[in-house]
Amino acid sequence: MNVRQLFRKKPADHVLSATEVLQQGSMHRVLKVRDLTFFGIAAIIGAGSFSSMGQACFSGGPGVIFLFIICAVACGFTALCYAEFASRVPASGSAYTYAYVSFGELFAWIIGWALLMEYSIGNIYVAFSWSGYFTNLIGALGIHLPDWLCCNYKSAHLAWFDHTGTNRMTAWETAPQLGGLRIIFDLPAVLINAFITGLVYIGVKESRNLSNAMVLIKLAIILLVIIVGFFYVDIDNWTPFTPNGFAGIMRGASAVFFAFIGFDAVSTLAEECENPQRDLPRGMINSLIICTLIYIVLSLVLTGMVSYSKLGVDDPLAEVFKLKGVKWMLFTVSIAAVVAMTSVLLVFQMGQPRIWMSMSRDGLLPKRFSKLHPKYKTPGFSTIVTGLVVGVPIFFTDESFVLDFTSIGTLFAFVLVCGGVLMLPEKGEVSKNKEGDSQTSGKGRYRLPHISGKWIVPVAVLVSFLLLFFFVPDYLQNAFDVRSDTAAKKIPLLIFFTICILMAVFTFLKNFSLIPVLGLISCCYLLTGMEASNWRWFFTWLGIGLLIYFFYSFKKSKLSI
Ligand code: ALA
Repeated sequence: MNVRQLFRKKPADHVLSATEVLQQGSMHRVLKVRDLTFFGIAAIIGAGSFSSMGQACFSGGPGVIFLFIICAVACGFTALCYAEFASRVPASGSAYTYAYVSFGELFAWIIGWALLMEYSIGNIYVAFSWSGYFTNLIGALGIHLPDWLCCNYKSAHLAWFDHTGTNRMTAWETAPQLGGLRIIFDLPAVLINAFITGLVYIGVKESRNLSNAMVLIKLAIILLVIIVGFFYVDIDNWTPFTPNGFAGIMRGASAVFFAFIGFDAVSTLAEECENPQRDLPRGMINSLIICTLIYIVLSLVLTGMVSYSKLGVDDPLAEVFKLKGVKWMLFTVSIAAVVAMTSVLLVFQMGQPRIWMSMSRDGLLPKRFSKLHPKYKTPGFSTIVTGLVVGVPIFFTDESFVLDFTSIGTLFAFVLVCGGVLMLPEKGEVSKNKEGDSQTSGKGRYRLPHISGKWIVPVAVLVSFLLLFFFVPDYLQNAFDVRSDTAAKKIPLLIFFTICILMAVFTFLKNFSLIPVLGLISCCYLLTGMEASNWRWFFTWLGIGLLIYFFYSFKKSKLSI
């Protein structure tokens, strides 16, 4: 193996011909731009808005809307980059396939491995949150599951040690034992995962119909929450606006970013679209715009209804109405939460097998991962493995761990996607239409607008540093003070500053396009909000992935033959 082999790239036209040649029967092309927009919304609005938003409001106060705006900007630039890729390489596999074309095999593998966190590990968090709201819902109907069947082992263990006095502690005390081991697991989370896996196994058409219906329901109910909540807003609750400063706002980075991820899942459906080059970009961008508007209004309403200090709960949308005594809304919100999270589970559970399918076609995973079911035309084996990857950890892990893990992995993938666009040739790329004829440009194809960053990026970086230096000198001084006890926490920020300077230099020298550069910088900034312990886990995860690559995938790769 020599180093150059690690960066061997796959030409875009090979991606497509592999798609056509290797699949045993093509997938059903049934999705239009409206379906893709709905899929995007289905994937975006879920546990982030119904659960993790609460902790973000609690640490950041009403000023959390700044974080929503930062995340929206980062995701917006990234969506444009995804859209550019999706129109050039309209094949399943999302960022993995794109990285294969632009960065080469090793990076493609790393991205595929990181995306596993977004889709599968992310779904573990969503399944836990789903279970919380579902248990409340059936509780309101008089059906009560024992506590040891409604929470995960780790949280129950922790609650018992900390004496937090919640139902998790009761779960630990009342759980039956088998050979000294307490039986505690989240039964609704396990069941919803099994149900969704079955649905995705059966086929995309059935999933699409269900997903569209769920999106309509959740949008209607969220609109209702906003309208009803609006009448309870007290603007005094917006003071102080940033009670814990900007550091407090950034503590919510993981939770708020989690609320945005999902728009990229649309790009995994390329081979099931009628016209992927035209519709994928539109679907992705439409869904992101709609959800961003909803989040900004929703976070303003929530922090206006009650003091931010009361929002540090797992079910903030239900909590605000409980505090205001609007009982009928509690039930409505629980229904919306269950519906919203079911749709997220569905889209992510569809995305993961399609990434594995692409990796398997390239030889990086065993052939079974790309085999289509003879009747349903879905990647059956990959779908079942996804079900297991989500289902098994439900027994061992807890919410906060998987939330952070997901956000860090996804941001990492986004950084590589934005970087990948910078590496693409500007013109003359080959793409193919539905019938497989080569074409160099397509009517109605999305093109990322080329705005030169040559002067804008270096000037913006310089002005930002000057503004920080003159107006918030403490911030800079603190960031560069590596003698203090918290020096380790500052490493990500110092790396971020270095990346900004390097990007300014390279953008000037290579005349990079503005949008991907801004996408890359803004995603890197969000990465600085991740805890040091998450980085350790992330790099361990990456190490495991690299071992698999070097011992299996590198040798089996189609490019090795
Ligand atoms: N954005 C998705 C959610 O909030 C992952 O559930």
